[in-house]
Amino acid sequence: MTTEKIVILTGAGISAESGLGTFRDVGGLWTQHRIEDVATPEGFHRDLDLVHGFYNTRRAKAATARPNAAHEALARLEREHPGEVVVVTQNVDDLHERAGSRSVLHMHGRIAGALCGACGGRWQAPDIMSKTDVCPTCGATATRPDVVWFGEIPHHMDEILRHLSQADLFAAIGTSGEVYPAAAFVEEAAAAGAHTVELNLDPSAHVTAFAETFFGPATETVPRWVAQELARS
Ligand code: APR
Repeated sequence: MTTEKIVILTGAGISAESGLGTFRDVGGLWTQHRIEDVATPEGFHRDLDLVHGFYNTRRAKAATARPNAAHEALARLEREHPGEVVVVTQNVDDLHERAGSRSVLHMHGRIAGALCGACGGRWQAPDIMSKTDVCPTCGATATRPDVVWFGEIPHHMDEILRHLSQADLFAAIGTSGEVYPAAAFVEEAAAAGAHTVELNLDPSAHVTAFAETFFGPATETVPRWVAQELARS
């Protein structure tokens, strides 16, 4: 088996069949809330109760959701290719980890995490966060969900770009390609000579940049694609 670097980018679509909403589909989160109200630092400082309420609801849903066949297929791909698979997820749920994936980079943070805006301390968020919470490290009341808002720098970018520069295979799963820097990862991987694959319900904004596409629900396309990859290697 040749040594390969397989980089998988996931978006909200991979968790849709686990009951977690996407953002830009019909009925998606951004059709119910304005991004500037609930997903920017300015919105948070304008109305802490509104933003904590938005994430408390999402945190509860994420905690009761179950990984689906797509998450499980990616965990199997990693088990069969030890040390060669990294999942870069835009999602803040922990369904990849609960399916068994071990190499997971949350570029937009984790909804189960809490962050102190004063000292940078991180801890497991309580089920319900509120503006009266205090940081267990420094005691400040500048606590927030540990998620990346618009206008903030995504996490792990140096590591992600290094993985992309070494990629032999890049697959984007369940993402609309509407948000940078993730939307440009396919070009980074292709420039490194990687074979690029899009697995999506609908074509993303960058579908033409991919060498191969599979359309349909992730619980159907991802297990089939993983089985094909495992048979190939
Ligand atoms: N199976 C596969 N793909 C699906 C499914 C499904 N069952 N349901 C929806 N999709 C696809 C849609 O076709 C779309 O391409 O998932 C994608 C969802 O797109 P978005 O809602 O834009 O979600 P995402 O691409 O993850 O958004 C990126 O935007 O607002 C920010 O921080 C937020 O991380 C998020 C980022």
